[in-house]
Parts: sequence; structure tokens; C-alpha cells
Amino acid sequence: MKKVYVGMSADLIHPGHLNIIKEAEKLGRVTVGLLTDKAIASYKRLPYMTYEQRKTVIENIKGVYDVIAQETLDYVPNLEKLRPDFVVHGDDWKTGIQKETRAKVIEALGKWGGKLVEVKYTDGLSSTSFNKSLKEIGTTPDVRMKRFRRLLEVKPIVKLMEAHNGLTGLIVENLEVKSGNKTKEFDGMWLSSLTDSTAKGKPDTEAVDLTSRMQTLNDILEITTKPVVYDGDTGGKPEHFIFTVKTLERLGVSAVVIEDKVGLKKNSLFGTDVEQEQDSAENFCYKISEGKKSQITNDFMIIARIESLILNKGTDDAIKRSELYINAGADGILIHSKDKKPDEILEFCERFKKFERKVPLVVVPSTYNMIYEKELTEAGVNVVIYANHLLRSAYPAMKETAKLILENERSYEADSKMMPINEILTLIPGGK
Ligand code: SPV
Ligand code: MG
Repeated sequence: MKKVYVGMSADLIHPGHLNIIKEAEKLGRVTVGLLTDKAIASYKRLPYMTYEQRKTVIENIKGVYDVIAQETLDYVPNLEKLRPDFVVHGDDWKTGIQKETRAKVIEALGKWGGKLVEVKYTDGLSSTSFNKSLKEIGTTPDVRMKRFRRLLEVKPIVKLMEAHNGLTGLIVENLEVKSGNKTKEFDGMWLSSLTDSTAKGKPDTEAVDLTSRMQTLNDILEITTKPVVYDGDTGGKPEHFIFTVKTLERLGVSAVVIEDKVGLKKNSLFGTDVEQEQDSAENFCYKISEGKKSQITNDFMIIARIESLILNKGTDDAIKRSELYINAGADGILIHSKDKKPDEILEFCERFKKFERKVPLVVVPSTYNMIYEKELTEAGVNVVIYANHLLRSAYPAMKETAKLILENERSYEADSKMMPINEILTLIPGGK
């Protein structure tokens, strides 16, 4: 019997997939190379179903003899192992981002006289269009919450962008940038206390209460599906923090970050220019462990944010606290710095790498913004947060428009700086 290989992501199975398998089956015994979550996430968004779920579906499709993992976008490693007589694929990959992958398949098959068979692409059915429809349907709190841990498992670095209202949430949700054969996008949202407070015209001192923050959060949850990491400031009193944890968990937030400060919280980027007091490690550990005890699922995460570098207490203190916080149950560590250079963060990362008990490491490179994500990944960072950038870019633009109108006593001069009226009317679907 001839050997036939079919590579698939198979997240949202449609008749197009079944057609390919049917055609493949005519040629011999079909092995499906199922792309792992990691392989898929290397070039596009994480699939909705996990590898195991997708495997269960594919294994049970008529005509499939075997399912093996395809660990990379590149077929060649599996093809060399299997040396199939045929590879079957839709003919849609002749152009576009998969062109290169196709060329490599043909080259590899040539080595043992294998053949590529291309099946006519089933029009109108694509995972991309399904993805779009799924997004319109939305998500559930449970699926959204778990997605953050899944991303941490498969992405070299998880990228979060701040959102402080529905509109910024939509930007983070929908923005895609094509680069080579990859589609780049943000993985989730950071519910920044700085941008949420600032957008409400209040200082970032925990003056915006939880009810009001929940309002913002809810606006964002309503129209997005990506995971959310919530900036919980100091977390308040441990007796109060347990309720915050339960509330966030119920809503499907993936993680809360709390920082080890007490008293009137000031924004970290002020550093020592303002009075800021760090909590004792002992108290903060208690808060973490009370939070952990109060959560219902195993999926929700409490990330401990260390302010030692912000308060000039040095790396030793930060490292010591990391160990204590992890032992108290922290599911991740956020190490913050307001230095222009990444040196102290990189020093911390180097020492953090040697920890026996590993948890995800999060950074917020607002001031040391020259560093590339690739360098952070190499240093062992798992999550990068762009904490305030959408608000910081929107405010000057709005102010400039307001100024032009005041100066000119009409709005004509500002027009070229703004989005056209017909675009704003249709920006959000469903308005017409
Ligand atoms: C925020 O975005 O609110 C943060 C990060 O906590 S920072 O502003 O750098 O403190
Ligand atoms: Mg904050």
C-alpha cells in the first residue's frame, strides 16, 4: 500500500478538509501530520482547540489511518522520517505565504521519487473566514481564561498591549501585520491601572475603585476574545484581594498582577521621586497565598510584581523576593524597572534563569524601550507588556485637533489629521 501524507492544522474542520482526506485515501494509506500548537503559533494565531482535541477529531475521520505530530510549519522533518509516496494538499498554497513550504515539500519528495498531489481548493471555506465568524460569536470566560496559559506554553514570548476601553480593545483584538510568511498580532490585553485611571481623568493611585475598573473591563470583554491580564495595583488588603480574585476569575480574566507596595500607591515610573513604600516580603506572601486559596479554578494566575528595582533596592532584594513569592504560590513574576537601559532587568533575568522552580517572567519595557522582543526572549522573558502606548499616542493627536479648531475657529484645518466621517461611521460593524 502506498503511503500518503497530509499536513493539517485542523482546528475548524470543514468539508474542504474532508475532501482532501477523501482524495488522499484514493492514493493509499493516509497519515495526517497534525501541526502542534507551537507550530501553528509560530506563524499565525493559536488554534481554538488544543492539539489533543484536534487529534481526537482527525483520528475519527473516515480515511485517516494515522495521526502524527508535525512540530514545525516545515513538512520536511516528517517527510524524511516517513518517506511517503504522496503528499496531498489544497492547491491554494501555490501562491501566498505557504509558497516556500510547498517548494520545500517538492524538493524533499524528489529525493525518493514521491509526488505532490494538489486538490482543488474548496472555495468559500477557509479557516480564516471561520476564525472571523468565531470572533463575531465571541468566547466564554473559561476558554478565554485558559488561552493565556496555552499561549505561555507555545509562544516564545507572549505580547500584551494595553487596552482601556472598547475601542482600544478592538485594536488589540483585530490588528494584524503581515511579515514574510507570518502574521503578527498581539496575544492579549493588559488592563493597565495607569491608562484606565488616566482615561477617566484620575490619578494612578488606586483612586479609581474596583467597580469602575470592572466597568472598563466589561466593556472590553464584551467585544473581544483574547486573554486579559489585569493590573491589580497593590491588590489592597488581603481580605479584599480574595474578592477581587473571585470577581476576575468569574469574568474569565486570565491573570491578575499585584505589586509589592503599601500605602498610597503611586505609579512606578515616578521611581523614588515620590514617596513609595514597599511591602514586607512576609505580608506580600500572605496576600499571594490568600489569593491563591480563594480561586476556584486551577487556570487563573496570580502574578507577583516586584518593585525592588523601581525603589533602588537592587537585584539581590528582587531575586530574594522572587523566590519567596514563588514559594508563596505566585504563578508568575513581573519584574519592573524604570531605567532607560535594560541592564538591571537583564541581570535579574540571568539570575532568575537559575531558579529551580520556574514560573513565567513578565516585563514592562516602557523606559528601556530600545530592547527587541527577541533579546527579551533570549534573556528568558515569557511575557512583554506594552503598558500605556495606545493612550499615549491618542492623547497628543486629540489635543492637536482641539488646538487646531480653537486656533482656526473652524474644523477644516484639522480634517486631514482625522479619520474621514464615512470611516468612523462604519468602523464598528452593525451601525448601518
Ligand atoms: C500600568 O500600566 O498601570 C502599570 C505599569 O502598572 S507602570 O505604569 O509602568 O507602573
Ligand atoms: Mg498600574
